[in-house]
Amino acid sequence: MNLIGENSDLNILDDILSAFTEITSNDLIPILQRIQNGYGYLPKDVVMEVSERTGIAASQIYGVATFYEQFHLKPRGKHLIRCCRGTACHVKGGPEIIDVIKKCLGLEAGETTEDMEFTFETVACLGACALAPLMVIDGNYYGMMTKQKVAEVLDSFRKPAEEIA
Ligand code: FES
Repeated sequence: MNLIGENSDLNILDDILSAFTEITSNDLIPILQRIQNGYGYLPKDVVMEVSERTGIAASQIYGVATFYEQFHLKPRGKHLIRCCRGTACHVKGGPEIIDVIKKCLGLEAGETTEDMEFTFETVACLGACALAPLMVIDGNYYGMMTKQKVAEVLDSFRKPAEEIA
C-alpha cells in the first residue's frame, strides 16, 4: 500500500487555492472537492497544508471531510467495486457475494488492493433491488450475481489490455 499523504505535489494545491480569495470555513467543501479531484483523495499532508495556509483548524477540516461520504482519506483503486448489503440482496445471497469478492481480492470492505487496482465498499442499498444480489463496478451494474459470476467479472478486469481488445 502506498504511504498516505507523503510528499504530495503541492503545485496542485497552489492552483486550487489560487482560485479562492480570503478563504473561510465556508469554502471548505469546494476546496476539498477540488483537492480530491486533483489528488484522487485527501492526502494528509495536503490537508495540513490547507490548515496552515488558511488558519482553519485541521480538526475542522477533518470534521467536514469525515462527515460527507463523498470524501476519501485514503488512496482509491483504479476500479471501485460496490456491493449491496441491503435486505433484498441479503435474502438472495448477498453475503456470499461479498465473501467471494473479499476472497478474490484478498481484502475487507473499505480497503484497496496493494496494486491499487480495486477498492471495495459495501453499501446499504444500491437502489436496484430487483437485480439482487447486486454489485456495481465503476458505475456499471452486475445483477443477479452468483459466486461464479463474481469471479468471472473480476477476472475480466484483470486481463491485460491486449486480451480484452
Ligand atoms: S437491497 Fe440490494 S440493491 Fe437494494
